[in-house]
Amino acid sequence: MTAASALPLASALPGVGAGSAIGLYARHTAGHEVRVAHTVALLKQAVQDFGAGLVQSTSLGVEDMVITDLIARHRLPVAVATLDTGRLHAETLALIPRLEARYGLAVEVFAPPQEQVIRFVRAHGENPMYESVALRKECCALRKLEPLSRMLAGRSAWITGLRREQSSNRADVPFSEPDGQGRSKLNVLADWSWADVWYYVQQHGVPTNPLHDQFMPSIGCAPCTRAIAVGEDFRAGRWWWEDSAKECGLHATRHEPSPSQANSGAPA
Ligand code: ADX
Ligand code: SF4
Repeated sequence: MTAASALPLASALPGVGAGSAIGLYARHTAGHEVRVAHTVALLKQAVQDFGAGLVQSTSLGVEDMVITDLIARHRLPVAVATLDTGRLHAETLALIPRLEARYGLAVEVFAPPQEQVIRFVRAHGENPMYESVALRKECCALRKLEPLSRMLAGRSAWITGLRREQSSNRADVPFSEPDGQGRSKLNVLADWSWADVWYYVQQHGVPTNPLHDQFMPSIGCAPCTRAIAVGEDFRAGRWWWEDSAKECGLHATRHEPSPSQANSGAPA
């Protein structure tokens, strides 16, 4: 467990209950305004550098909601896109129309090919992810990586909400990095703390997933996300049954890079 990513639980603190992620985590810390201004500068520079080749990849998690708010607030011409794996929580999906109504933008939604999903479920059942890491990765490849490749087709850069504090794997996340497939990945919140994220949400009334108030700081697909317990790591609720790097391959260059991925530009 990394000290930086271990979170207290709302339920563990006297007088603080579910429904209060803002109450628990939002805190102004030194340098917050500088970090916000730096992120805005990075976004503006990205628009200059990549133009229509730029997309924000949003999981609809709180970090990504902050980024979308910054994009909209500064009227930046950046496409906003999400991967609907078919296994997301209803609470996550409900954020799409909320976000569209609030910011007056259309979210591009990329889903896995239905026929392949049907074949996969017929062959392996609804929840094969619990059976083996290999099947879990197969599910992620079908439901996340395939639609990601279509989301990124024809694009030269993508914006993510990766932060250094999220896990030890991500401790060295730079603001900009090659994604291993010829594009730039822009991690515009790389140096933000969890307190920064929620302070921004509080200050700007950013809509957030109610599951964050139920002790899920990191939210992925429903079968692969659980609430965390007192003192657990930020990402302990993701693929909690696995003793693995707790990554699905979206950010393959951040962990277990194989020489072929590093050199050939093969899909993650
Ligand atoms: S994951 O690799 O473990 O799923 P995580 O949930 O931490 O990633 O999110 C990190 C970043 O990956 C997000 O800020 C977002 O940019 C991107 N991302 C994750 N899931 C999705 C998704 N379903 N759709 C689009 N982007 C996503
Ligand atoms: Fe499948 Fe779970 Fe990966 Fe989602 S996170 S694609 S449900 S294995």
